[in-house]
Amino acid sequence: MNLIINGLEVFTAGDKSNQPIVFVHGFPYDHTMWDKQIEFLKEGYYCVTYDIRGLGNSDIGDGQYTMESYVDDLFKIIAELELAKPALCGLSMGGYISFRAVERSQETFGSLILCDTRAEADSDEGKLVRANKIKQINEEGIEAFVNSFVPTCFAKDTIENRSELFQSVLNKCKANDPIGVKGALIAMLSRTDTTSSLNKISIPTLIIVGENDALTPPAVMKSLNENIPNSEFVVIPKAGHMTPIEEPEAVNEAIERFLKHIDQ
Ligand code: MLT
Repeated sequence: MNLIINGLEVFTAGDKSNQPIVFVHGFPYDHTMWDKQIEFLKEGYYCVTYDIRGLGNSDIGDGQYTMESYVDDLFKIIAELELAKPALCGLSMGGYISFRAVERSQETFGSLILCDTRAEADSDEGKLVRANKIKQINEEGIEAFVNSFVPTCFAKDTIENRSELFQSVLNKCKANDPIGVKGALIAMLSRTDTTSSLNKISIPTLIIVGENDALTPPAVMKSLNENIPNSEFVVIPKAGHMTPIEEPEAVNEAIERFLKHIDQ
């Protein structure tokens, strides 16, 4: 089902009486990055996903966002849909949103699934890289930015041997409004560091990373596992940063096993 909540495109699948899972996508993608997980999990879970403000089909508003406003949007969806203790599953920028949401209100969630993400804020160098990306969008356009950034998110093997899949993601990214994309870059570069809260996370947590993730490599994700007390760590062979798209079966299996295990 497709509905609008607070200007955001929200998608639900499955029986509302089942345990809810909220999926939060990465940058500069949209909710369809979770299609394969939802197709697989909707039989046993109530799956909810959405396009983050300014991306996909969600409202762009004034193009000025913060991690706080993204988290406000997430909480609004949870409240409107009356989700009880959902599992929260975020990838990369979706992970930044998840970390801050859990820091603000851990008791809202039943469990946490972190895919290809990090808790540290951007370094000064990272902030300058983001500023250059904004400049590139202004000077060369969204297509040039997407053509240079998105390939860094995929494993080389996916780009070379599954070009249809890769191209379809690339095209979706290019369809985003540059205002929303630049707003997301500013929200990410101004986000807070959530590392000092990691050891306070007490809900069951699953940490998933692609073996060939160049942006948030396994070593970075392993440190999350070392700092979050009740956490499990899974490396997905062959995948880059886009694990749910690149290796959906392995990701589905890891999520299902984790949720079944904590249910017992
Ligand atoms: C993402 O996949 O959401 C981005 O790579 C996050 C980032 O640029 O920090």
